Amino acid sequence: MDIVDRILISEDEIQKRVRELAEEISKDYAGKEVLLLCILKGGLMFLADLAKHITVPVTMDFIGISSYGNATTSSGVVRIVKDLEDSIEGKHVLIVEDIIDSGLTLSYLINSLSIRNPASIKICTLLDKQVNREVDITVDYVGFTVPNEFLVGYGLDFQEYYRNIPYIFILNPKYYTD
Ligand code: IMP
Ligand code: MG
Repeated sequence: MDIVDRILISEDEIQKRVRELAEEISKDYAGKEVLLLCILKGGLMFLADLAKHITVPVTMDFIGISSYGNATTSSGVVRIVKDLEDSIEGKHVLIVEDIIDSGLTLSYLINSLSIRNPASIKICTLLDKQVNREVDITVDYVGFTVPNEFLVGYGLDFQEYYRNIPYIFILNPKYYTD
């Protein structure tokens, strides 16, 4: 595909790392239940694969947060476009995110979830674009630390497309809109 500049993380590498993370999570939550909170839509592929390999009891819920519009850089504007179905009170919440960039989305989300009295909140992100961080947040599980490139595939979109691609690639710069 011409949209692919180069493949950054192959399907095999993703699947191997996802299993390792699931093992780590299963150990850390031993004897507990975990509520996997998927951030739509990007976290969907990651959640589905991760959940299959977690061995403690798991429930799932979904939240839709928008911080990007169709552009390739952060707007800093965050809004809940779809809220959780169930209460998180007393639950061990593990936020499952595709990528942390500026951190604005998660910092907003954690603030608004904390006041709902969960037993704990942790963060699991497949990708961490650490160099772009604008706010200080603790990330408990990171799949891969990635460079400051616009990444697509495995849940990550470019203008809503390519979320279904099983690997992660760097977008060909000729497609940048800003
Ligand atoms: P943040 O608020 O700047 O941390 O942005 C987090 C959100 O921006 C992620 O959940 C993604 O939806 C989106 N995002 C950040 N970087 C990329 C990228 O390289 N490709 C696709 N989406 C991205
Ligand atoms: Mg996202």
